[in-house]
Amino acid sequence: MSSVKRCRPTSTRGLPALLIGALILTGGSATAAQQDTLHELAAAQDTLHELAEAQGKYFGSATDNPELPDAAYSAILGSEFGQITPGNSMKWDTTEPVQGQFNFAKGDVITEFAAQHGQTVRGHTLVWHSQLPGWVGALPPAQVEAAMTRHVTEEATHYRGAVTAWDVVNEPFNEDGTFRTSPFYTAMGRDYIATALRAARAADPDAELYLNDYNIEGLGAKSDAMYALVRELLDEGVPLDGVGMQAHLAVQYGFPYQMRANMQRFADLGLDVAVTELDVRMQLPADTAKTATQSSYYRQVVEACLAVERCVGLTVWDYTDKYSWVPSAFPGQGAANLYDENLLPKPAYSAVRTALGGEDDGGEGGEPGVLKAQYRSNDSSARDNQIKPGLQLVNTGSATVSLSDVKVRYWFTSENGASAYSTWCDWSPIGCSTVTHRVVAAGVPKTGADHYLEVGFRSGSLAPGASTGEIQLRLNKADWSNFDESDDYSHGSGTSYADASKIVVYVGGEQAWGIEP
Ligand code: G3I
Repeated sequence: MSSVKRCRPTSTRGLPALLIGALILTGGSATAAQQDTLHELAAAQDTLHELAEAQGKYFGSATDNPELPDAAYSAILGSEFGQITPGNSMKWDTTEPVQGQFNFAKGDVITEFAAQHGQTVRGHTLVWHSQLPGWVGALPPAQVEAAMTRHVTEEATHYRGAVTAWDVVNEPFNEDGTFRTSPFYTAMGRDYIATALRAARAADPDAELYLNDYNIEGLGAKSDAMYALVRELLDEGVPLDGVGMQAHLAVQYGFPYQMRANMQRFADLGLDVAVTELDVRMQLPADTAKTATQSSYYRQVVEACLAVERCVGLTVWDYTDKYSWVPSAFPGQGAANLYDENLLPKPAYSAVRTALGGEDDGGEGGEPGVLKAQYRSNDSSARDNQIKPGLQLVNTGSATVSLSDVKVRYWFTSENGASAYSTWCDWSPIGCSTVTHRVVAAGVPKTGADHYLEVGFRSGSLAPGASTGEIQLRLNKADWSNFDESDDYSHGSGTSYADASKIVVYVGGEQAWGIEP
């Protein structure tokens, strides 16, 4: 069955991500001048969804009810994304915890949020072996089909008009392409899939009906199995509109093999394809190489979807590390999302923007990561009353970077909670008069990092391969009390310049180098 593409109604967009992230970082208390700058940034920037929409796709995020009271979180969710998927609240254990007792209250909160923000909703999910209440598995097999049909019918009927697409069956396959055992498979064999799809179509003739699975993004045994199944279903006249590729990727496992070709073969069957749960996790701690790989994976997924006309859009499995499922499911792994735990966009966010055709962040053709910071300590004592970082920036990209777009953060601790500082630029070949410097208190203090020295530039540019040359910086507290620099996040003891991953560089407001504390 061919699908009908729907357009999200036009809506007034809320505060964009950069503005909100910056307000959080400043503890919500941006000065009037900062607010103006942020508003300029905001006005200049399309949202991810707007960029995707210009290419005929949507860009969405998963969300969950406990996250919505977080005002900064929901402001970004409501403004940056044109589609949302409930991470948990439409699953069987929530909607029919006891046989015949339906509860759609949590899912209704999600569809209401979407309606208020002009977003579409992917319903997730009607039939799945997981988050399935115990009573289903305890039923005699002969009663499972009726229970499943009733569940699908009740839920899809309830959300008629509010949900544009359903993951009708989730994760039907094992890794080797055999069918996964579940109460449904045990009771009905593979026919449970057709039965569920037919029930969903009968309940909501307008919703797009999907089968959804992970590790089917590239060519391989599992995607071959999905391909064979959907061909058979289409041949049998079973209602099916699309295949959802979850895309829970990990930098350590490589990029899915021939994702674009794989998407295209499903599209060639007349099906839509959607990237439904995208995230890219890594073994912690993050470092520059893993972060760059992550950005590249996000970019490649977006490019694959853009290259396949029937790929209708992408959904990230929540947009921020703050609410990621990864650390609890894969201990030691994380940092999988587009925004960090402080709701600040990461390099992957910029990579996605660029892939969607948005403005570059680091100049022509530039992804973030075009600058690197080098540091040496100009201080012979880590326990005196001054901090003396030596800093230089090197353009490692292929495009010129405007220095007025660049901010650098050197993180330290105040020891006695001091709030007043003096900052100095003592010497630089680019001229100290072009260098700005100030101390800012962290919105959320971290170990070794409750303040940062922020360095910026009034003018100038850095050609590919060029360096600013050293910038000799210095700061002291107004009361001239001593620091203990030994535990400061960005402090190092090296006396010659070396790459410094604990000094963080932002280009155009987005992180381009280093690891935040
Ligand atoms: O609601 C209970 C709470 O009452 C209890 O105190 C707490 C203690 O563990 O658990 C809470 O339930 C958790 C639930 O999320 C709601 O937050 C479960 O433990 C937890 O396992 C569950 O994780 C969800 C996971 O599916 C379960 O498989 C994730 O949030 C959700 O993001 C994730 O989403 C799945 C997709 O549906 C399918 N594809 C894979 C994807 C990632 O696993």
